[in-house]
Amino acid sequence: MSTPRIAARIRRIKPSPSSAAAERAATLRREGKKIVNLVVGEPDFDTPEHIRRAAYEAMERGDTRYTATAGTPALRQAIAEKLSRENGLDYDPAHIIVTCGAKHAIFNALAVTVDTGDEVLIPAPYWVSYPDMALACDGTPVIVPTTEEQDFKLDAQTLARYITPKTRWLMLNSPTNPTGATYSPEELRALADVLLDHPRVLILTDDIYEHIRYDGRKMRHLLHVEPALRDRVVVINGVSKTYAMTGWRIGYAAGPADIVAALDKLQSQSVSNACTISQAAALAALTGDQSFVAESVRIYERRRNRAVELLNKIPGLSCKAPGGAFYLFVNCAGLIGRTTPAGKTLENDSDIVLYFLETVGVALIAGSAYGTPNYFRASIATSIEIIEEGCDKLAHAVSELK
Ligand SMILES: Cc1ncc(COP(=O)(O)O)c(C=O)c1O
Repeated sequence: MSTPRIAARIRRIKPSPSSAAAERAATLRREGKKIVNLVVGEPDFDTPEHIRRAAYEAMERGDTRYTATAGTPALRQAIAEKLSRENGLDYDPAHIIVTCGAKHAIFNALAVTVDTGDEVLIPAPYWVSYPDMALACDGTPVIVPTTEEQDFKLDAQTLARYITPKTRWLMLNSPTNPTGATYSPEELRALADVLLDHPRVLILTDDIYEHIRYDGRKMRHLLHVEPALRDRVVVINGVSKTYAMTGWRIGYAAGPADIVAALDKLQSQSVSNACTISQAAALAALTGDQSFVAESVRIYERRRNRAVELLNKIPGLSCKAPGGAFYLFVNCAGLIGRTTPAGKTLENDSDIVLYFLETVGVALIAGSAYGTPNYFRASIATSIEIIEEGCDKLAHAVSELK
């Protein structure tokens, strides 16, 4: 038997379930089916005009060539100022690298630090890509379950229990995709106390949803709470979610000199720099008028409130109002064991999501994709009308169950 052509590290991962769900919804739509798409993982707003204009101007100026691998000096300076202004973190631009989206920064951070068998602690529910990224980098994802009762947040005792001599990373995402869980400074303090005792463990803070939060508070960063962790923290962020710029593919990492140098080396041998025109747009996003950010959060908040109200009226479903991000993580345990009009018993969250898609055309993502069965994720990055239509259809589909 010939050996497989595809490398083991790729054979052991699966495609992103959220991309797959989005593609499935798009295919059904192309086939003429009416689909209420609640899987979207990106803002439904256009990128603000002044940001788009900065991109045109960059092209007109001839900014269409390679930049330094780590990004333009102007953008790295703007990121350093943003980290100082918004997060109270002081980074030299030399310790910041611009990447092709936050996803790229996270992948590369693991790629440059994880050796075979190193453990990557991932609190569940988690963003779908973390475990497969760890696997692709020859690491061992270690899933740390959290519960709805604890608002899906990792607590200090649990963290302490899961750290082993092989632990290399803790992935910390706040606000969290898919639950919206948002860590308070006190909760970060408790986690920091545990982390201080384990100097081998690096901490990746995925701050991509930092501005999309509904408690009116600004994010307090783990490093602001505990500066002594500085040599072990890689800060990940980007412009995708805050400025409706998912397609521009600009993210960044800030961190210790050796890790950023390794990121630079890997990037120089793989993608070179992030798109030059997009870097000019990201510079305008970070340095220009910020009113879009607060306005979009107000809109998400209205949608969140309406969706929570409607979903909680459906017998068998329940969800808490998320503190941040633009998703609801809906408990559907009450539907398990029920029977569809076609006579099929709903055994798990994947059956439930498929039932909703096939009978009423509402596209959702099963909680199992996030490491937490008995839930599904519904996106609110869509209009109130679509949210209302989706909830109406879900209510109808549930009413048909026996
Ligand atoms: C938690 C989390 N981190 C990172 C990303 C990736 O962001 P980007 O578009 O900047 O690659 C996403 C996108 O869905 C996300 O949900």
